[in-house]
Amino acid sequence: MISKHLNDELNQQITYEFYSSHLYLAMSSKLASIDFVGAATWMRTQADEERVHALKIVDYIIETGGAVVITGFEDPTVKDDNILGIFEQSLEHEKFVTGRINLLMDIATEEKNYSAVNFLNWFVDEQVEEETTFDSIIRSLKLIGNSGTGLYQIDKELGSRVSVGATNTQA
Ligand code: FEO
Repeated sequence: MISKHLNDELNQQITYEFYSSHLYLAMSSKLASIDFVGAATWMRTQADEERVHALKIVDYIIETGGAVVITGFEDPTVKDDNILGIFEQSLEHEKFVTGRINLLMDIATEEKNYSAVNFLNWFVDEQVEEETTFDSIIRSLKLIGNSGTGLYQIDKELGSRVSVGATNTQA
């Protein structure tokens, strides 16, 4: 059984994960509209992963006897219409999500809920991986600058990202 406090914050996190999925889908569509088809595919896969994150939390709350509450959220806003700006916004968003995961971990630790700590450890690792990945793409884009060949190449590489099953919560 999880506490009401942790249950409420986990429900809030479900909303943030679904919001992340919407934000990345909006970014994917923007990238496609400016002809970065590979980057659009990459970002669509990221949107799918965020949905998996949300479902992982849904399943955890159900397994621990809590109450799942699904709520809506504000429209996602893509602030830039260039590939570098879009990835920079993504990294900023991931840093916000990392802060949220840290908050959840603080609550679980204070409540000595070691099952929740164990569950949340997956998200801690995932945030490190995601921030590193976004940062690495941003660094590459900065090095490439306006080089058409470089942009073509990185778009091709981003397009090779393998998709995850959107409902597979083991991802
Ligand atoms: Fe669900 Fe990108 O963190």
